[in-house]
Amino acid sequence: MTAATPAPFLDRLRADHLDSPVALARTAPRLAWQVVAEGWTGVAQAAYRIAIAEAATGAVVADTGVVSSIDCVGVTVPGFEGTPGAAYEWTLEVALTTGETLSAGSTFGIARTDWIAPWVEPSQADVVVEGPENPRPDLVVAAVEAIEGVPLKQRLHPPRLLRHDFTLESRPLRAVLRITSQGVHEASLNGAAVSDALFGPGYESYELSMPVVSHDVTALLAEGDNTLGVALADGWWAGRISFLGRSAQYGDRLRASWQLHLEFEDGSEATVVPDPEAVASSRGPIDYSDIFIGERHDARLDNAGWDVPGAAPSGPEAWTACRSVPFTEAIHPFVGEPVRRVMELPAQRVWTAPNGDTLVDFGQVLAGRVRLRVTGAAGTTLRLEHTEALDPHGDFFRNVTGFAKDQADEYVLSGDPVGETWEPRFTFHGFRYVRVTGWPGEPRPEDLTAVVISSDLTPTAALETSDPRLDRLFLNTVWSQRSNFLAVPTDCPQRERAGYTGDIQIFADAASILMDVQAFLDRWMADLRRDQARRGGGVSAIVPEPPAMGGDFGAGTIFGEIRTPAGWADAVTIVPWSLYQHYGDATVLADSIDAMRTWVEFQARQAATANPERLGDLADDPERAARQALLWNGGLHFGDWLAPSTMVGFDEHPGDAILRAPQWTSEIVGPAFQVRSLSILAQAERALGNTAEAEGLEARVAKVRAAFAAEYIGTDGRMEPDLQGMYVLALAFELAPAEVVPAIVDRLVALIHEAGDHLDTGFVSVPFLLDVLWDHGQRELARTLLLQDTAPSWLYEVAQGATTIWEAWHAVHEDGTVEEMSLNHYAFGCVVDWIMRRQAGIEPVEPGYRTARIAPDLDGPLTSSDAHVDTPYGRLAVTWRREGATARLSVVVPVGVTAEVALPDSWSTDAAVLAQGTHEFTAIHEEVDDDH
Ligand code: BGC
Repeated sequence: MTAATPAPFLDRLRADHLDSPVALARTAPRLAWQVVAEGWTGVAQAAYRIAIAEAATGAVVADTGVVSSIDCVGVTVPGFEGTPGAAYEWTLEVALTTGETLSAGSTFGIARTDWIAPWVEPSQADVVVEGPENPRPDLVVAAVEAIEGVPLKQRLHPPRLLRHDFTLESRPLRAVLRITSQGVHEASLNGAAVSDALFGPGYESYELSMPVVSHDVTALLAEGDNTLGVALADGWWAGRISFLGRSAQYGDRLRASWQLHLEFEDGSEATVVPDPEAVASSRGPIDYSDIFIGERHDARLDNAGWDVPGAAPSGPEAWTACRSVPFTEAIHPFVGEPVRRVMELPAQRVWTAPNGDTLVDFGQVLAGRVRLRVTGAAGTTLRLEHTEALDPHGDFFRNVTGFAKDQADEYVLSGDPVGETWEPRFTFHGFRYVRVTGWPGEPRPEDLTAVVISSDLTPTAALETSDPRLDRLFLNTVWSQRSNFLAVPTDCPQRERAGYTGDIQIFADAASILMDVQAFLDRWMADLRRDQARRGGGVSAIVPEPPAMGGDFGAGTIFGEIRTPAGWADAVTIVPWSLYQHYGDATVLADSIDAMRTWVEFQARQAATANPERLGDLADDPERAARQALLWNGGLHFGDWLAPSTMVGFDEHPGDAILRAPQWTSEIVGPAFQVRSLSILAQAERALGNTAEAEGLEARVAKVRAAFAAEYIGTDGRMEPDLQGMYVLALAFELAPAEVVPAIVDRLVALIHEAGDHLDTGFVSVPFLLDVLWDHGQRELARTLLLQDTAPSWLYEVAQGATTIWEAWHAVHEDGTVEEMSLNHYAFGCVVDWIMRRQAGIEPVEPGYRTARIAPDLDGPLTSSDAHVDTPYGRLAVTWRREGATARLSVVVPVGVTAEVALPDSWSTDAAVLAQGTHEFTAIHEEVDDDH
């Protein structure tokens, strides 16, 4: 190290994966930190000591003493049990093996569990309940016809403003506002926003438990008069949501409830609770706001200052008292990163399309909304319509259709001569292009900015290679994650915007590499488990399950049969397992283990009671009946959803095409994922030390595998349907006896060649495609598929100029025709996980990258790669460059990680096991055939 080398230091002190959280659900949070030692070598933690003190008194309430340990992830403090409502300061001392001691501190608070405030219900028009009740096409058509020509102002209503005045005799030492709402809210104190969070209190299964958000508002309170303001809009509670697009699924009335908890210098405490009759409500300048439809703002009605003390609030209508409604719901604290504005993109181009429309291009498909700056006469109304694509002529084209997919905002100018700025408040759209109508004069690019909205997660990876197409694919995946990690993990940000369980299980590994998703997915998993419990063990295709999809939803349609879809519902096992692999905190397994167990028993029960109809009665064949009773194969699933060969003819008969994957592949996909869930559960039990349970499950896995092989895999390795995805699943989940594996590989390879070296995998098989080829001696073919640039393939999208990951491989045709498909679905971006492991060469071996494998593809198409992953221990970076028979590598290993160098057999190097530090080394190519 040089004189300029900074001393090692402690960084990223977190409690339950968050930086200084105000209100954690756990009374014994898991603490984590990183030891950063850039420029040093061989630094390791020898011991740590954590002391936790009450913030109010400074009294130390728990102290670990010196613990000799290298642990710095998921550390709990024995004996510490936080008091609900209390704030704590924790100090950390870390002794390094070099003898040095480092120290740092951070804070956390524990959430209160009480709730005494009533609901405050402003006077309001009922929300119009509209939209299909059922996926039956006739009902969807009827619903669309029913709203045709009905003005939006009749269908939607203005968000409400609530104003709560209160007096404080003195300023508190600490003040925490806890707030929840039926509808989405933004709150202010004395005219200042309580936080930069959007869409409070988030989206969870409201009917099961209401999330309560906590904000530290100490700085915003004054001695004397104070005003708390709450703006309240339909959001997910009453607005149009999910698969059906139906409104008012949780309720048709908006309400909010809050408690302000105050701690004073003399040790006294107080809670300010609203008296609804003393809370005044009115409408503000927003005529309506709906997540699907959009927002209309009439700036002539602006009433700035409505939420400051003193001034009699004005506005477009009189202020009236609210109503008190008893609060009977269960509550839980919202734990995680809120939705925020995370980025801004300037308009790249404003132009007139061939058909005369004025269009704006932001150069990137995203989730968010447009902020505009405009000058014009009062009453001028301008309209912004959002879309992800243009048609082949370059005209505006809606790639997303269905019920209430308007995605349009309107702004009525106040006429301010110096110009006015506006951004919608309670809606967001999925878009790249905007059609502008009604603009006074011509808009210029500098008048329009795209505001990107997302749950504010920390990015944790980067990749730059010698192939810019792969770099773009990587970025496209980041963008699809950013767009869809918005309150819940959604399928797409412009159509259903729903928490599809399948999409996230497919993408969980990539998601965990690209961003720190621990708190975000922990919260969603808690919701999934609540949802699963009320369903008696089954897991829905969507979490939160929209109320309209409960009960006998979809009766008489294929959707009514697909209630616990294989590869979707299995998110209950796959997502926690993936989080454990990437972050190394076993709490996520402990939290989920009961739900996992319940799920595999649910599969087993269904397996025992239903066989595929085609088999008829198996009374004459007891052996077969016994095998069949083990297999979860009697029901309908989404199957290998959107696999290209199931989608032939989609343009002409979309309904037929889309249902082929369920019809053809459910019988294989069901039991394949049954094995997947069972074996993950077995591994999870082992990781938690439940050895006997693990062994029992391993025996069950073996039985189900044997039954699967006997029923579905021929001795020649053939399967029915004879599709790539089926062979991929058989190999990935080890469903075939060893002697048949080579034949399966041969058939998979033959099918890929028959398809002109193209993939033919859908949602549930694609995450495993390149791995099974790689692991079975087909490395060159895996590389070919990765770099294939005609459809269907990953780089076809890139070649077509995609800036996000598409829902379907053929979403845009070569001639520029756009299908009615989302262009922003992260699922197929799962390949980033493979690229990071098998091309860039960064792979977790032990959970959390405690041990990592450095295995770059020095024999592949890339000549260089520069990648890193911010593991829970710190940044693990691998840079390599190949020239002829020489490769130069640089590996940066963080404190706490051991990296094993595993180059292809044909490369020799001195580097083997790398401890903390920066390691530069060379590898030399030797003539060995590595394709084995
Ligand atoms: C969604 C998918 C989802 C699927 C389930 C689609 O409409 O966009 O991503 O998983 O439905 O079939």
